[in-house]
Amino acid sequence: MTDNKSIQYREAAHLAGQTRYLPDLELYEGTLRGYPVSSPYAHARLLELDTSAVMAYPGVATVVTAGDIPGPNTMAPIIDDEPCLLPVGGVCGYAGHVVCLVAADTLETAKKAAALIRWKWEVLPPVLSVEEAMDKRSFLFKPLQLIRGEAGEAMKKAPFREKGSLQAGGQEHYYFETHSAYAVPRHQGGFFVRASTQNPTDNQRFAASLLQLKASDIEVQAGCIGGGFGSKQAQANWCVAWSTLLAWKTKKPVLLILEREQDFRITGKRHPFKASWEVGFDQKGRILAIDLSVAFDCGWCTDVSYAVLHHSIFHIDGAYFIPNLHVMYYPCRTNKTSSTAFRGFGVPQAFSIIESIVTQIARSLGKDAAAVRWQNYYGIKKNNTTPCNMTVDHNILRAAHRQMLEKSNYSALRKQVKEFNKKHISVKRGLAMVPGKFGISFNESFLNQAGALINIYRDGSVLIHIPGTEMGQGLYDKSRTVVSRELGVSLERIRVSDTSTAVIPNTTSTAASTGSDFAGSALKDACDKLKKRLAPIALEMMGLKKGKLDWGNDVIACKEARKTLSFPDLALHAYMELESLSEKGFYKREGIGFELETMEGRPYWYYVMGCAVTLVELNLLTGEFSIPDVWILHDSGYPIDKGIDLGQIHGAFIQGMGWCTMEKLITDETGQLQTFSLDNYKIPGIYELPDNFHIELFEGNPEPRNIHNSRAIGEPPLIYALSVWLALSDARGKMLSLPATREELIKPLYDEK
Ligand code: MTE
Ligand code: MOS
Repeated sequence: MTDNKSIQYREAAHLAGQTRYLPDLELYEGTLRGYPVSSPYAHARLLELDTSAVMAYPGVATVVTAGDIPGPNTMAPIIDDEPCLLPVGGVCGYAGHVVCLVAADTLETAKKAAALIRWKWEVLPPVLSVEEAMDKRSFLFKPLQLIRGEAGEAMKKAPFREKGSLQAGGQEHYYFETHSAYAVPRHQGGFFVRASTQNPTDNQRFAASLLQLKASDIEVQAGCIGGGFGSKQAQANWCVAWSTLLAWKTKKPVLLILEREQDFRITGKRHPFKASWEVGFDQKGRILAIDLSVAFDCGWCTDVSYAVLHHSIFHIDGAYFIPNLHVMYYPCRTNKTSSTAFRGFGVPQAFSIIESIVTQIARSLGKDAAAVRWQNYYGIKKNNTTPCNMTVDHNILRAAHRQMLEKSNYSALRKQVKEFNKKHISVKRGLAMVPGKFGISFNESFLNQAGALINIYRDGSVLIHIPGTEMGQGLYDKSRTVVSRELGVSLERIRVSDTSTAVIPNTTSTAASTGSDFAGSALKDACDKLKKRLAPIALEMMGLKKGKLDWGNDVIACKEARKTLSFPDLALHAYMELESLSEKGFYKREGIGFELETMEGRPYWYYVMGCAVTLVELNLLTGEFSIPDVWILHDSGYPIDKGIDLGQIHGAFIQGMGWCTMEKLITDETGQLQTFSLDNYKIPGIYELPDNFHIELFEGNPEPRNIHNSRAIGEPPLIYALSVWLALSDARGKMLSLPATREELIKPLYDEK
C-alpha cells in the first residue's frame, strides 16, 4: 500500500528519494553508453579531425561527427547559431563545445577511447568579458531598447541625480539529475527517447530534423525529472540529439548521461551582467528618470537569450512606475558556456538593478529604502501602466508592503538594528525589504497553448496526460488536484502518466512558471467536456430526465431529486452504453504579445506580487553572516496546493540566496571553467539557511483569469532572495556586487585602508 501511495504522490516519492532518474532505468540488453567529446579550447578553429584511433579502440561501437548528420546540423531554438556538432573548419565557441560523439560498451571505454582523438586546432584569442564584447560590438542579436517618456530631458530637470553601476555573476543550476537521455531504436523505424527534459516537443523537433525524419517518427518521454530550473528548456535538446544520433548510427539503444563535471563545463548558466545607470529623483525619492545600459554575458550562442533578455527588460521597472526611462540591453557574445534559462528568466537580474537604484536613492536622501519603495510603487488607478503600456491590475504592492511592515515589525526592527550597530564594532546587522512583481506567460504569443488528455477506465480510475514535465515543482499533484476538484473524484483514483510527445503533441516548454496554469486549464477543459457527455447518462441512471448534478467525493448527486450515483458505477455504465470515457482538453491564451519595434503590448496574462524582509548579522572581519529572520508575503491567489506553494517559496528563496551570496563561477584567462564541482562551487547548504522563515500567503486576491483563481508560483519568489544581498549591503554600508561572497564582504576592509 505504501508503495502504491508513493507512486501516486509524486512529491512524496521525490522527497523520499524514490523518483527514478535516467541512471536508475532498467536498460535494454546491448545498450551502449554515449559520450560527447568537447573542444579543449574556448575559441579555436578545428582544422583537422581524425577519429580512427577512437573507432579502433576495443569496445567502441561508433563515433559520430558533424559529417555524419543527415539533416541540417543545428539545434538552435531561436537564432540559427548553434550547430549540433562542430564541423571541421568551424570555430568552437567555448571550452566544452562538443565536436563528436562516442558510443561504447561502457562509459569508461568511451572515455579512454575519446582520449585517443587526434585533432588540430588554430587557437584564437577568446573574448571572456562583457567589456571586451562591448568594445568589439560582439553581439548575438540586435541590442534591445526600451523607451518611455523623455529620459534625457527629465534627467536634466530632476532635483537630484545619482549614477551607479552593478555587476552580477552567473549561476549553475545544480539539479540533482544531470542532463541525460536514453534513445532506443524502434523496430518499425524511428526512435523512442526517454529524457531529462522540460521541453520534449523541441527535443523531438531537433532529433527529427537532424536525422531527416518526421516528428511523428520520434517519441520523447519524460518521467519525473531531477530538477530542471530552466536548464532543460533548450539545452535538453543536446543529450536527446546526441543519444539519438548514436542510436541511429549503431542501431542500438544508447544511454547518454553527462557526468557532473561535464555537465558544469558543457551546459549553460544564469546570465551574468554589468549595468551602469543614472537616475533622477525628487526630494521624496520619487523616480523621475532612469537611463540604464546593461551588458549581458550570453556566452557563445543565442540559445534562449533572446527570450531571456526580453522577459528581463519587461521587468526592469521592478514594482515601480517610472515615467521616463531609457534602457539598452546588449546581448554580448563571449567564449563561455551559453547562458540560458534559469529560474526567473532574467527577472532576478532586472530586479537587482532596479533595487540597487532604489537603495542608492534612499542612501542619497538619508531615507529608509522601504519608504522610497512606497513612493514609487505602481498605483491602483493612477500610474498603473508599465513601460510597455500594460496595465498592472490586481495590484497588491502597497497592501503587501503595509502588511509586511506590520508582520516584521519593521520600524522597531530598524531601531534595534541601529542600536545593535552602535554597540558593536566588528559585527553589524542589516535589514532590507524587497517587493516582487513577476509577469506570467510566454512573451511569444504562439507558446501560450496547451493540450491534455484524460482517460477514465471502466473501474472508475482516471489516468491523466499533461503537457508539462514534473521536475519537483509539484505539477503532477497540482494537476491531480484540479481533476479531482473538477470531476469530483478522490485523489487516490487519479494517476498522472509520464509526459510524452506521442500522447500530447506540440507542447510548450514547462517554463515561465506556467506549468500548472497550462496543464490545469487544459485538464479543466477535458473535465468539462467529459461531464457534459456523462451527465445525461448519470441522469438516466438515476431515472431522471433533467436536474442539476453535483460531482464530489466520488459521487454524482442530484440534490433536488435526492439521488446519488457512484463514480465507478457511472464509468462502467457509460462504457456499457458505448460512450467514450476519454477526452482531450485544450487551452490557449490569446492576445499576448508585443511590438518588436516599440516594445509595446501585453507581454503577460497577469502579474504575481509580494514582498519580503530579511534581517542579517554580518561579521565584518570574516565575512561570515547569519540570517536570523526572513519574512515573505506572497500572493498565489487561491492556491491549488498551499503546501506545494510554500515549498516553492522556500526553494526559490534559497536558490536565489545562492546566486546572491555564495555561488561564484570562475573562468580562467584561457576560458577554462575553474568551478566544476561542489569542491569549488558552493551552493546553499543546511548551515546557511535562515534561522527563522516566516512565510505567508497573501489572502483575498483571487486571479480570475487563471485556473481555480490561482497564480503561478515556480519562479517569482526567487526575487525575494535579493533582500539577503540588500540586507548585507545595508550591514556593510556599501552597495555590494553579486554574489556577495565572503571575499566580497571583507573586501571593503582592504579597499577602505
Ligand atoms: N522546483 C523544483 N523542485 N525543481 C525545478 O526544476 N524549476 C523552476 C520552478 N520550480 C523547478 C522548480 C522553474 S525554472 C520553473 S519555470 C517552474 O518551476 C516550472 O514549473 P511550473 O511552471 O509548473 O511552476
Ligand atoms: Mo523556468 S527558467 O522558466 O524553466
